[in-house]
Amino acid sequence: MIRAVAGGPMLVDGSRKGKILCTRSRPAKWTKRTVLTESTGGQRVHDRAVASLNELVATAAGNAHRDDPIAATTGGPAGNARLTAWTGLLLLALFLAETFTLISVGHFITAHILIGAFLIPLVILKTATTGWRIARYYLGTSDYRQGGPPPTALRLLGPLVILTGLAVLGSGLALIALGKSSFTTIVSIAGFQINALTIHQASFAAWLVVMGLHVLARTVPAVKVALGKESVGARVPGGSARGVALAVTLALGVLTSVLVLHFSGGWTNHLLERFHHHHHFGYPPNG
Ligand code: HEM
Repeated sequence: MIRAVAGGPMLVDGSRKGKILCTRSRPAKWTKRTVLTESTGGQRVHDRAVASLNELVATAAGNAHRDDPIAATTGGPAGNARLTAWTGLLLLALFLAETFTLISVGHFITAHILIGAFLIPLVILKTATTGWRIARYYLGTSDYRQGGPPPTALRLLGPLVILTGLAVLGSGLALIALGKSSFTTIVSIAGFQINALTIHQASFAAWLVVMGLHVLARTVPAVKVALGKESVGARVPGGSARGVALAVTLALGVLTSVLVLHFSGGWTNHLLERFHHHHHFGYPPNG
């Protein structure tokens, strides 16, 4: 298990007195339970914050990683981490492509819709693999308990990563379902006219901030885990099942993008009409 502690009087003895500061980020030499005793409340909060920050930085830099047990057949937590890492990296590549279309959605609307729809099954897979780990952890499965939770900041960010991601994709799909009415004002708040398109734009802005932080913290570890650098020499069973899961997800991505594009004709035409009418590139104004 992973232990790291900063500052304050410590006792490394495996006893259960006092508070565990942090249960992850392990430089290999820390193997015992690290317990803090005899410190004031303020000092303890400070120590805990410093330990959390150290753990976060070490994780983001790829210097600390959980000891994920490797189970037979599926690979268990180590297999789960690999599938999550590969899915994350594929998502990252597609996010970059999708962000590129934002340079001029007017021009790249077809690519924007195709990539956005292709993302849906992958985002569901990512939610499923991390959701599985979260559920196993909270249900007390020993393998996943042994791995421990993510660093606190990422643990808190996780649900927002899922919610904002679903909001962007959901509101994007809603635009296609709504067609022309995407531009109809739903409500006016302080002079701002809110319609389905502004909801899509606002959820994108929220998602960008949250995902920016997630990607900053998770890209280096994702590369290391995907390349097997975290379990050097150890075989993690379940590789072909993971490959099949990814291949099926990508095939579903193709299917989703073709279907969504098929239904998006009306919306795209309407957008292009407005786009030419207003003679400017990017989103047309609301109203
Ligand atoms: C909409 C897209 C995504 C969703 C919904 C999502 C969701 C999550 C959630 C809920 C967690 C658990 C909390 C945490 O440990 O931080 C997580 C972990 C992780 N994510 Fe993402 N994520 C997405 C995109 C990405 C991308 C683009 C990357 C690649 C850079 C990535 C790489 C990772 C990694 C490496 C972990 C740690 C997994 C582990 O502990 O084994 N994710 N993700």
